Order: sequence, then C-alpha cells, then structure tokens
Amino acid sequence: MVWNQTAYFGPDAIEVIPDELAHRGFGKAFVVSDRVLVDTGVTARVTDLLDSAGFPYTVYSDVQPNPSIENVQSGVAAFQAAGADVLIAIGGGSPQDTCKAIGIVVTNPEFSDIRSLEGVAPTKHPSVPIIAVPTTAGTASETTINYVLTDVERQRKFVCVDPHDIPVLAVVDPKMMATAPRALKVATGLDALTHAIEGYVTQGAWELSDLFHLKAIQVIAGSLAAAADGDEAAMDRMALAQYVAGMGYSNVGLGLVHAMAHPLGAFYSAPHGVANGILLAPVMAFNAPATGEKYRDIAAAFGVEGAHVMPIDEAREAAVSAVAGLTQALGNPTSISEVGATKADVPALAKAAFEDVCAGGNPREASIADIEQLLHDLL
Ligand SMILES: NC(=O)c1ccc[n+]([C@@H]2O[C@H](COP(=O)([O-])OP(=O)(O)OC[C@H]3O[C@@H](n4cnc5c(N)ncnc54)[C@H](O)[C@@H]3O)[C@@H](O)[C@H]2O)c1
Ligand SMILES: [Fe+2]
Repeated sequence: MVWNQTAYFGPDAIEVIPDELAHRGFGKAFVVSDRVLVDTGVTARVTDLLDSAGFPYTVYSDVQPNPSIENVQSGVAAFQAAGADVLIAIGGGSPQDTCKAIGIVVTNPEFSDIRSLEGVAPTKHPSVPIIAVPTTAGTASETTINYVLTDVERQRKFVCVDPHDIPVLAVVDPKMMATAPRALKVATGLDALTHAIEGYVTQGAWELSDLFHLKAIQVIAGSLAAAADGDEAAMDRMALAQYVAGMGYSNVGLGLVHAMAHPLGAFYSAPHGVANGILLAPVMAFNAPATGEKYRDIAAAFGVEGAHVMPIDEAREAAVSAVAGLTQALGNPTSISEVGATKADVPALAKAAFEDVCAGGNPREASIADIEQLLHDLL
C-alpha cells in the first residue's frame, strides 16, 4: 500500500507550503494549474504565500479538462525552461494528472512520446517531487498512483499506473475547493463515491482497502448533498472522504464504471464525474451477483435500516436504489445521450471500455456484448 510521504488536512492547510518548501531544500517551483483557477484567484491563494515567503516560481496554466498528450509535452518543455526543482499542482484531477506526467517524463525522458506510459510503465526514477493541492473533492489524484490522459488524435483516454508519480506532499485544504460551482461539486463528489464503491467491490479488495472504502462511502453518502449546497462542515468532510477513498482504490483498482466513463470523456469531453454518476447505479446492478455480502455494507452506509438482516437480494436492491436516489436528487444526468452519446457510437464505446485498464478489476466479467447492452439501456 502506497500513499503520500506527508499529508495535511483542513481549512488553511495551504499555509504550511512555504515552510515545507524551505525544509525540503527546494529552490524554485513550477506551478501546474489551469486558466479558470488562475482567473478566479484560486491559484493565487497558494502563489500569494510563495510571494510573501520570497519563494520563486513559474506558473503553467495551459491544462485543459481531460488533459491531452500535448498538455504534458508543452508542460515538460516549460518546466525545463523554468529551471525549477519542485512541482506544485493546484487544481482538480486535470492539473494534478498533467503535473504527475510532467514530473515523470522529466526524470524518465525515454517516455517523452507519452503514449508509452499507458498501463504500468516501467519507469526507473521517481517523478520530480510534487506538492499536490487539490481544488475539487473528487479524484484524490493527490495521493493515487494513477494519472489519466487523453490521446486526442486516437480519441482515447488512457490510464497510467506508476507508484513513482505519487506526490511527496498532499495539502487537502477544503477552502481551495469552496469556489467550485454546484455542478462541479456534484460531479466530483460522484467521482469520489464511485472510487469508494468500485474500490470496495473490485477484485483486489482486501481488509485494509475495505476500511478506507467503507468509511468513504459512509461519509460521502451523508455529506455530498449538503456539500453541494455549500455547507462548510459537509465540504470539509467531502475533502477528507475523497482522499480516504483514494488511499484505498489507488492500491487495489477500480472497475467497469471507470472503464465505461473514460470513452465518454474521450469521445464527447464528458466531465469525468458526470459520466461516473450516470453509470454507477446501473453498473452496480449488473455487478450485484458477483459481490457476495458487500452490498449489505453499502446499503447500511447509506442508512438503510435492517440492511444486515434482510435477504441478500433485497440488500443488493437497496444499495443500488440508494445510489440511484442520491444521483437523481443531486441532479446529475441519468442518460449517456445527455453527454452526447449516440446509438451509432455504442459499439466503439463498448470496445474502448472493454480494453480500458480499469475493466480488469471489475468483480463480474463483462463481455463487449454486456457493455453494449448497458450502454443501450442508458441512451
Ligand atoms: N489520477 C487519478 O487517480 C484520477 C482519478 C479520477 C479521475 N481522474 C481524472 O481527473 C480529471 C477530472 O478532474 P476533476 O473532476 O477534478 O476536474 P478538472 O480538473 O477537469 O476541472 C474541471 C473544471 O473545474 C474547474 N475547477 C476546478 N476546481 C475549481 C474550483 N475550486 N473552483 C472553480 N472551478 C474549479 C477547472 O478549472 C475546470 O474548468 C479527469 O481527466 C479524470 O479522468 C484522475
Ligand atoms: Fe475517477
């Protein structure tokens, strides 16, 4: 099991950053963020601290949502031109993932084509040290061994799995997430819920990962709706719960929801959390026969009375309904046509999902025909 060396949590946690940079002996930071976060002053909340401490930095803010191979390659060139020795990722999953890929390619230049990083890449050297400051309560990229990139030319989203990319330091400050609009809080929260549920039932799950996932499901079930409506205490809990989910799934894998969500991102630029939210309950229903007693715990975590004593079929239905009910109450789309999917694309979407690295962790074997059926039912 691998996580960050050090992590800080809570409102104003970002204030530790200048001291951490000094104690670790760094001389110049390369900040990876995005245009929206720069324009809305979110990035500046950290760079203002660097200014006050007199710590030099360069900002790279060209990252797009669903970041591309080109984002990484131009980021590597900008890092090298900047002469920095530490990376600071400030953003949601897109800047976090771009930052990880930049850090890996700088120390392992034989992977500068980027495509060869897909799957488990045999890199030899740890990334340039990364300080990760998430601005969404969702991906947990700040503590995972994964990053996800988009190959625009081949219309594919691909997952890279590499323990060398884990940020040395994560600073999980819920105030950095507070400016997210409601729809973003909903989408990223549903991503975190998907990590927790897929991680709980994935093939590699075991006692230690179960601890993290079950706790994360319980906290997210009780906090996401209030957090989306701006309740501060609930947002604090979501910031922690998404990280706790990441401590689990990063070490054991995910499943078919993520495998099917990635092509929706690659084909239609569907926001990752929105895609997961559409797919989560239907895929849970498909997986139910292969989940043993685990859906009882999920139902109980959602507050279903008697979940531990009712017949297992009932408990499974209760777990799926609880998740579907939350997704609907939050107003997430419920069909893939709402993100642009068409009947004609279903075979290509299904093939891409079948080949996605996340599909291997799914508790129930799913053929291309099974995936096509799931997609048809969601049009
Ligand atoms: N590395 C991992 O382990 C992992 C896990 C899950 C998902 N992902 C990837 O992460 C990406 C999605 O990340 P995401 O859902 O966090 O969104 P994102 O980083 O793509 O951001 C989406 C939009 O929200 C804006 N935004 C972010 N934080 C904000 C804030 N605090 N206030 C206002 N606006 C804000 C951004 O500027 C951007 O326009 C996808 O590419 C997905 O595949 C990675
Ligand atoms: Fe995800």
